[in-house]
Amino acid sequence: MDINKETMLTEIENAKTLNELNELKIKFLGKKSELAIAMSKTGTLPVEERAAYGAKINVIRKEITSAIDAKQIKLEEEEVHSKLIKEKVDISLPGYNYSQGSKAILNATIDEITDILIGMGYECKEGPEVEQDLYNFEMMNVPKGHPARDMQDTFYITENLLLRSQTSPVQARSMLEANGVAPIKMFCPGKVFRRDDDDATHSHQFTQMEGLVIDKHISMSDLKGTLEVIARKMFGAKREVRFRSSYFPFTEPSVEVDVSCFACGGKNASCSICKGTGWIEILGAGMVHPNVLKMGGFDPSVYQGFAFGMGIERIAMLRYGIDDIRNLYSNDIRVAKQFLKEE
Ligand code: PHE
Repeated sequence: MDINKETMLTEIENAKTLNELNELKIKFLGKKSELAIAMSKTGTLPVEERAAYGAKINVIRKEITSAIDAKQIKLEEEEVHSKLIKEKVDISLPGYNYSQGSKAILNATIDEITDILIGMGYECKEGPEVEQDLYNFEMMNVPKGHPARDMQDTFYITENLLLRSQTSPVQARSMLEANGVAPIKMFCPGKVFRRDDDDATHSHQFTQMEGLVIDKHISMSDLKGTLEVIARKMFGAKREVRFRSSYFPFTEPSVEVDVSCFACGGKNASCSICKGTGWIEILGAGMVHPNVLKMGGFDPSVYQGFAFGMGIERIAMLRYGIDDIRNLYSNDIRVAKQFLKEE
């Protein structure tokens, strides 16, 4: 028998790929292999030699088979290994920068005040931006021809239809909706419109948030306490609130509300935020005028109410130190990103 086992084993050992190994498997163990041919010759031998001859071939066959199996495992492992090396992620490369959106400053400010008011038991209400004169003015104690109409230069659509100049009409609507049943505790954030020339501090469209409480035994001290809570949550726990008398047609008495300066605490005569006065005006407020209560369906001899209204832009500009209102309306995400953390 002329079978060179060593040559076969060497060839197996030298196989570089699984394909090569597969070819060797066919060559050494297949039907046309030397071993198969040698085996087929068994029958031609004398009977007494056949068993030993067959056994010898089988030993070689087994040895070749296990050499191929072992080599196969080795090559497979090598293949996996080289794949892993090739596919290795280079974590030292900078990743892709997926830019995340950011809440607009105005919306973030509305959300913040909303959270405070909801926490105090207020209900959030909305109303139409195209509003009837009836709700925007008349039910707010400003009849047609009343000089107080000049306080808010209004966009009229028809004689009785306008772009609301304040969010107060939502108060009127809430009163009517309540149908004389107290308490009412609501606030209404929303867009309002006035015929203003746009500049760094004016905009023909801006955002207001008004609050209204109606119940029995409501007094000015409830208003002050409420505004103190809001001012401290917005501008810091040490803030004081002060009332200055003012005029709004729908409240009596009416006040302008100042918060003590959060920037200098009233200690810096050249403070750019409070102009050295120690106080910053943040909103208007007052006790609901008896005429407004009456028109809203509440008997002023039984019920009282307070109302407050603030400009969200002003609050946002103060809080974030923004000096041009137009920045609040730009689509430039870099503006918001300077001030708000990504969520
Ligand atoms: N709506 C008033 C304004 O725009 C603000 C305000 C609301 C004042 C409620 C007092 C009470 O001027």
